[in-house]
Amino acid sequence: MKPSPDSTPASMKSNRRSQIDAARQQEALDETGPGGPALEPASREQDFQDYDYSNFYFGVGHDAFDMLTPFDDWWQWARPEGYYLFGQPMESAPGTRVDVRETKGHKVLKGLINLASYNYLGLSYRQEVIDVATEALQRYGLGASGSPILSGFFDLHEKLRLELARFKGKEDVLLFPTGYSANLGLISGLMRPGDLVLADQYAHASIVDGIILSKAKPLFFRHNDANDLERKLKRFDGKKLVVVEGVYSMDGDLANLPDIVEVSKRYNARILIDEAHSSFLFGENGRGVAEHFGLDDEVDIHVGTFSKTLGGVGGFVAGSSKLINYLRGFARSRVFSCAMPPAIAAGLLRSLQIVEDEPELRTKLHDNVAFMQTRLRDAGVDIGDSASQVIPVFVRDDKRIFSIVEQLNHEGVYLNPVRYPAVGKHRSRVRISLSAAHQRPDLEEGADILIRVLRRNGLCP
Ligand SMILES: Cc1ncc(COP(=O)(O)O)c(C=O)c1O
Repeated sequence: MKPSPDSTPASMKSNRRSQIDAARQQEALDETGPGGPALEPASREQDFQDYDYSNFYFGVGHDAFDMLTPFDDWWQWARPEGYYLFGQPMESAPGTRVDVRETKGHKVLKGLINLASYNYLGLSYRQEVIDVATEALQRYGLGASGSPILSGFFDLHEKLRLELARFKGKEDVLLFPTGYSANLGLISGLMRPGDLVLADQYAHASIVDGIILSKAKPLFFRHNDANDLERKLKRFDGKKLVVVEGVYSMDGDLANLPDIVEVSKRYNARILIDEAHSSFLFGENGRGVAEHFGLDDEVDIHVGTFSKTLGGVGGFVAGSSKLINYLRGFARSRVFSCAMPPAIAAGLLRSLQIVEDEPELRTKLHDNVAFMQTRLRDAGVDIGDSASQVIPVFVRDDKRIFSIVEQLNHEGVYLNPVRYPAVGKHRSRVRISLSAAHQRPDLEEGADILIRVLRRNGLCP
């Protein structure tokens, strides 16, 4: 059973599209030989405008490097056209104002209002966090120097594991070097060929990659649609895992957890929630969206990252001790990878303590979210169904998105283009991420600039 086209995630769609593109390239190469078609300047310009990464996924030839030259040709053209906006070096901490080195004009854009960071509570640069991390750095050195099952596991990791299990109200926790590797190791460690993993169509790439690695059958249900989930669950007899995100990373809406849990339980499917963007922010105690809906105990597996709200790096899986014990053996992305640096674990412990001691930070963030969402919706800006600190501003035009972001950066706001393959084609957007650290004047100024730029470009009234 193939997922229907509109319920397939961008990261999987690319492969089918790329096959079509590969066939087109094959025709061109048959005429011109390996190394790519020699296009006339005019048609080359026209073609290049329509290309993106999906055009360079499959290629003909016998050398694994055959795709590099055609890609490089395009890249030399595409980078100054807008791709340069990805990965420009920041020269300051990810605070509410940042200095960004613009790699096209080679100047530093200073003091931009930062509406792009995952530092949702401003913890990455809190002095107490830096202090304990510095102390740990002095004591333990730079890296863990080993896998967590061999020589890379430190007392600080153990403490973080236990503290987090207590905070999440779960029997046990397993730490991973990144959130990406947590999903990868968890899904591929638990699910097997012949099983079914049914994920929301907007599931993050780490979930999709985990499914691919598990070799379980991948299916995707329409975003937040419990009826579509039921239709797909009904047809399968075997081990089933349903995967959702607490807050969707590109859309900022919440999982329709009550309906999804109800349906999943009726069909004996286990439920995984990835709370990368909602752990430490939602629910009475900050455990996440599962707690927010009063469904914390109904969800079997809880994933989170340390790279967002806690301001560090790393990932975790929380659940029953039997689940964690099993994953200790089978989550290969953890077993065969170095543990997170001990100094990071020290900083994360302090960040976690701040989350517990200062619930007012969450309140401040939610106030900032309410302010920004009202301001943008009142101005007629399309922010979709966002109900969180992740606020997409839809542009939907995969070419113009670059120019919009360039204008925003030059006029004082730091935002990034989000386009295929992070989201589907023609679903380009800029994605605002708010922080509790933002003060009202930052938000007012940021919103004014954003609305001005959108208006000038005909994207809001
Ligand atoms: C939903 C989701 N899961 C997992 C990850 C991966 O987390 P990390 O960046 O910590 O590897 C992300 C990252 O943005 C995410 O949005």
